[in-house]
Amino acid sequence: MKLLFINGVNLNMTGIREKGVYGVQTLEEINAEIAAHFKDDECEFYQSNCEGDICTKLQNAKCDGIILNAGAFTHYSYAIRDAIAAIQIPVVEVHMSNVHSREEFRHTSVISAVCRGVIAGFGKNSYILAGESFKL
Ligand code: DQA
Repeated sequence: MKLLFINGVNLNMTGIREKGVYGVQTLEEINAEIAAHFKDDECEFYQSNCEGDICTKLQNAKCDGIILNAGAFTHYSYAIRDAIAAIQIPVVEVHMSNVHSREEFRHTSVISAVCRGVIAGFGKNSYILAGESFKL
C-alpha cells in the first residue's frame, strides 16, 4: 500500500514551536517513526507552507491513501477543500492536538466534510492511526 503524508503550514516547525502542544520531536523524527511503523508499505512525506503547492500535490497524488495535516489551512482553505473533493483518493484529516479543546477558531474545519474521516488529539500517533485506517 502506498501512503502519502502531507503536512501543511508551520508543521516544519514541529519540535521547535509550542512544544507543550506539539511535542519536542522534529517532523523529520516523527516521519522516521511513521516510516518504521509502516515498514511493509511505501510512505511518501511532503510538507509545504504554501496553500497552492498542497493543492498541486493533492491533484498529482498517486497512492492508496492520503493523510493530511493541513495545519491552520484546515480552518479556512477552501482551495485545499476543493482539491480534496477533486480527487478520487481518500484523504484522512489529522491533527496532533485536540483542536476541539483549544481556541474557538480551531473548532471549525472546512475540509472535514470532504475527508473520509478525522483523527485529532493523539500527537504523532494521530498520523499512525490515520494511516492504519486505510487497512481496515
Ligand atoms: C494542527 C492544529 C491546527 O489548529 C494548527 O494550526 C496547526 C497544527 C495540529 O496538528 O494539531 O498548525 O493541525
